[in-house]
Parts: sequence; C-alpha cells; structure tokens
Amino acid sequence: MKHTDIPVITIDGPSGAGKGTISLRLAKHLDWHTLDSGAMYRVLALAANRYNVPLENESALANLATHLEIYFKPLPDLSATQVILDGQNVSQDLRSEVSGAAASKIAVLPAVRRALLIRQRDFCQAPGLVAEGRDMGTVVFPEAHKKFFLTASCEERAHRRYKQLIDSGINARLSDIIRDITERDKRDSTRAKAPLIAADDAHVIDTTGVSIETVVACILKKVAL
Ligand code: C5P
Repeated sequence: MKHTDIPVITIDGPSGAGKGTISLRLAKHLDWHTLDSGAMYRVLALAANRYNVPLENESALANLATHLEIYFKPLPDLSATQVILDGQNVSQDLRSEVSGAAASKIAVLPAVRRALLIRQRDFCQAPGLVAEGRDMGTVVFPEAHKKFFLTASCEERAHRRYKQLIDSGINARLSDIIRDITERDKRDSTRAKAPLIAADDAHVIDTTGVSIETVVACILKKVAL
C-alpha cells in the first residue's frame, strides 16, 4: 500500500495548544496510530546528552537520529504513549522544560530534521495515522487527508503546561514556563527550515477557553465530512 493511500490527520501548533491530548483522543476514537514528533526531537536531545554529543554538532546529531533505538509504546488504555530509549522508559525525563528547550535547539538543524523526517514517515501505517507536531501538515505529510492547526493564548498554554508538570510530579514555576514558551515559540516560528506555520489547507482552531472534548468533537465532525 502506498503511503498516500493511508489516511493521515495532522495536528500542528505551538507548545501547550493541546495537540498531545487531542491526538491521543482522536487516535483512540478512530483506532489509528499516533505520532508524537516532538517526542522524537526531545528523545534525540536526551540521547545526545547521554552520549556526549554536543547540541551544535549537526552531522553527529543527524547520525544519532538515524540510528537511535527508539520505541513508542502506547499504554493499554491509549491515554499516553511511553517512550523507550535503548530499552529504558524515558517518558518522564522527556516532559521537563529543559528537555523541550534542548529539543527546540536541535530542531533548527536541517540535517537533523531530514533524518527524523524519514523516521516520522515510517509511522504512516494502516488503518491510519494521527500525527502531531510543528510541520506535520506542511513538510512531513503534505498530502494528509485533513490538517488542523491548534492555537491558544500564551497564558493559557503556560497554565496548561504548568498543571501537566505539577500533576506528573515535576516541580515548575509559572513565570519560567511563560518565558520558556515565549522563547520556544519565537525559535520555532522564525527558523529557516520547517518553521511553525499553519498549512494553507489547515483548519485553524483557537482552543483558548475551549474544552478538549469540544475540540475533539469539532475535529471529528470535519474528518467525517
Ligand atoms: O511538541 P513538543 O513540545 O514536544 O516539541 C518539542 C520541540 O521539538 C518543539 O519546541 C520544536 O522545536 C520541536 N519540534 C519540531 N517539529 C516537530 C515537533 C517538534 O521542530 N514536528
């Protein structure tokens, strides 16, 4: 089966716009696969740190990206996906703001993006894929059947991220998160390669003050059309 025959829904947007939770809910509803592409950038940054690869060494990072042993293991209730690096569950390590910032630094490197793009396309498996990130609809799956771009105010995204971190037992300060999100948005939106931008054919949904259930219902309605 050609990749383009397999239906893909892309969910792009900035950090904290609700992409992760919404993608998992959609995939559960449709019984499709998921791709959390941000986790790939995060796990690569983590691996670089573990193997002493400097975050500026583009070719060594791209090589690591190609050979990294990463495995995504959905929980039985599909409420989350565990990330396994070299046989070890690193899901908790990946959620920190430090990890997000390191991911965003290596994400500006074109060779790293090219290496991860190949691995991201491998996730396109029958019966379908819900792919979330920054460039899923623009670069990785430009032929996707339906594309969505989720936004929300910076304050709301920071509050959501803060709650997520505290709920999972990670210490956090709201003011630090607002600063990190602002920096990360700027770096992601202004980079030359695959910047954070809505695809021309994406449905843009502002999730500020809107519940997850409402956003999921809105997407499912559009997907069914
Ligand atoms: O989505 P998440 O916060 O996990 O992504 C971490 C970082 O990885 C983002 O800030 C962004 O720089 C990078 N990223 C990317 N392209 C993607 C997904 C994530 O550049 N498709």
